[in-house]
Amino acid sequence: MKNQVLELLRQEDGYISGQELCERFQVSRTAVWKIVNQLKEEGYGIEAVKNRGYRLVSVPDLVTEAEIQSCLHTEVMGRNCVYFAETDSTNIQIRRLAEEGAPNGTLAVADYQTAGKGRRGRGWSSKAGEDIFMSLLLRPQMNPANASMLTLVMGLAGARACQELLLEQGCQEQIQIKWPNDLVWRGRKICGILTEMGAEMEVIQYLAVGIGINVNAREFPREISDKAASLCMALGYPLRRAEVIARVLYYFERDYQVFLQTEDLSGLVEDYTERLVNCGRQVQVMDPGKEYTGIARGINSRGELLVEVDGETRQVYAGEVSVRGIYGYI
Ligand code: BTN
Repeated sequence: MKNQVLELLRQEDGYISGQELCERFQVSRTAVWKIVNQLKEEGYGIEAVKNRGYRLVSVPDLVTEAEIQSCLHTEVMGRNCVYFAETDSTNIQIRRLAEEGAPNGTLAVADYQTAGKGRRGRGWSSKAGEDIFMSLLLRPQMNPANASMLTLVMGLAGARACQELLLEQGCQEQIQIKWPNDLVWRGRKICGILTEMGAEMEVIQYLAVGIGINVNAREFPREISDKAASLCMALGYPLRRAEVIARVLYYFERDYQVFLQTEDLSGLVEDYTERLVNCGRQVQVMDPGKEYTGIARGINSRGELLVEVDGETRQVYAGEVSVRGIYGYI
């Protein structure tokens, strides 16, 4: 009920009377008062005025279940949400939840990760309470061979969400995608995605799509300080993480539906390519044993990078592509 009370307070511009809350939730005034106090203890500024009721005056930057739920505009994604003040990795936790039978769309979110996982066995650093560390559980009924494309779907959703949030604040900075799924601002990485799969005999049991977004960090570990950035650095001031999460999930839910219709990216290629930082630039394809360079031209409906080499177009799937000399983190 706390989630719903918060949601109502959020929707209401002015006061909402204690009586209305009691009737809405069929509880006593004392019960309402207790919930309001709980919210206040968590940092919400709630004004209580006699004969008028309650009004939400300030919202803390939390990623608790209640805070996320009160911002969500999705049907499925994030509707079941598990919050950790601290955990090893939300990908590890979402895989555990998946094994225990958690439903499609379950979100694991943490304020702090002690063993965050990056791609290719790398780690993902975190500082408490600044950024987003979350993993989404998906249970698509499709060919496991198509699953890796979902990482690009999440990348696109993340780019749309971050770009829109900046624009809403009047900020014209560009958030772009570095193929396949990093988000960058001025060539610095602000977001990474790690998708892991649980499959048996050609059937996907679950997918864990983990996404780390640098939201409010202003400093990074020395090794990545010239390669990483955050939304806050682009904007000049902090954003509320739950609003970023809600916006990412909103776009992901929408794009995921488009993806499922064809089980490929044909309905999303245009929007993805528009944001692709590599487009028209020289890239180095790190194909084991045969490195080569070419000009990136976009992606195809399978999410492969199209690289023009000597007038011929090659499709790059598993190789690692880097953009020469322009982006510091590569
Ligand atoms: C990358 O290397 O670019 C991928 C980084 C993915 C990090 C996120 S943070 C939330 C989720 N939990 C993890 O342990 N990793 C992902």
